[in-house]
Amino acid sequence: MLGKDLLGLYETSAEDILAILDTAVGMKRLLTQNLKKLPHLQGRTVTTLFYENSTRTRCSFELAAKYLGAGTVNISASSSSVQKGETLIDTGYTLDAMKNDIIVIRHPMGGAPRLLASHVRASVVNGGDGINEHPTQALLDFYTMREKFGAFKGLKVAILGDIKHSRVAKSNLYGLTKLGAEVTLFAPGTLLPQGIEELGAKVARSREEALAGANVVMGLRIQLERMHGGLFPSLSEYAKYYGVAEEHLRYADKDCIVMHPGPVNRGVEFTSDVIDAPESKICEQVLNGVAVRMALLFLLCKNRQGGNANE
Ligand code: CP
Repeated sequence: MLGKDLLGLYETSAEDILAILDTAVGMKRLLTQNLKKLPHLQGRTVTTLFYENSTRTRCSFELAAKYLGAGTVNISASSSSVQKGETLIDTGYTLDAMKNDIIVIRHPMGGAPRLLASHVRASVVNGGDGINEHPTQALLDFYTMREKFGAFKGLKVAILGDIKHSRVAKSNLYGLTKLGAEVTLFAPGTLLPQGIEELGAKVARSREEALAGANVVMGLRIQLERMHGGLFPSLSEYAKYYGVAEEHLRYADKDCIVMHPGPVNRGVEFTSDVIDAPESKICEQVLNGVAVRMALLFLLCKNRQGGNANE
């Protein structure tokens, strides 16, 4: 069963992924009944420690913790003692001394959550580390897929966009292959990591091939902030040759859904008509993110030594 921390899906079993999704079903039911003062995590404290910008992940963790009755603290690097030279480990010791139960960390360096987790008593959740993993985004993506299709075996998932810099793509790939889905990637060669096929993905040679029969069409943002030099000629050329417009969805399965982790660059990875199409689950993904994070926080607290999350 789930251990002290959630650092990535590379090391998380299919059973643990499904246990989180199953728990999230009940959490979503509570959310949709607008029940937001629940007792599950009363007496617990959840801190978000974000060294990179975020709207969805940070807000979602904070609301998930609050809805379950936990106390919450938000720390951003720009307003913390990191600016005065404090190390990540010393920041962790400080948060531990204050009796935090869970630290959700986002950091530009891959591996930072693992380093923190090895030094603190608190449970650590990876809220995105560099280009490595973003496990809770993938979990909410899986929840959204399962809600529509019921199961993962044989599900065709097409992921298009900046795969190379995407922690979302990697967490999705690690998890989806364990769950039995088929993942096809499409991007300019400069935005595909070498050897990605060895992780179980198929690489498509064209947009049409990537989309052919896809049940899920997932777009990823072009992460200009992580690029050092031009990896493609221009955003408009990227949109023309690699982006998805409504006319391209005809190649996908007729019951396909459109997903994107956000933030979306309208007109680059997807045209606005795709983002706002009836097939689009982008807003539902955000709601599911709160339910999945409620489930994860609950399960981690339940696992903690001496800790009994209130059922
Ligand atoms: N999907 C996601 O991680 O969004 P934020 O960067 O807004 O948290």
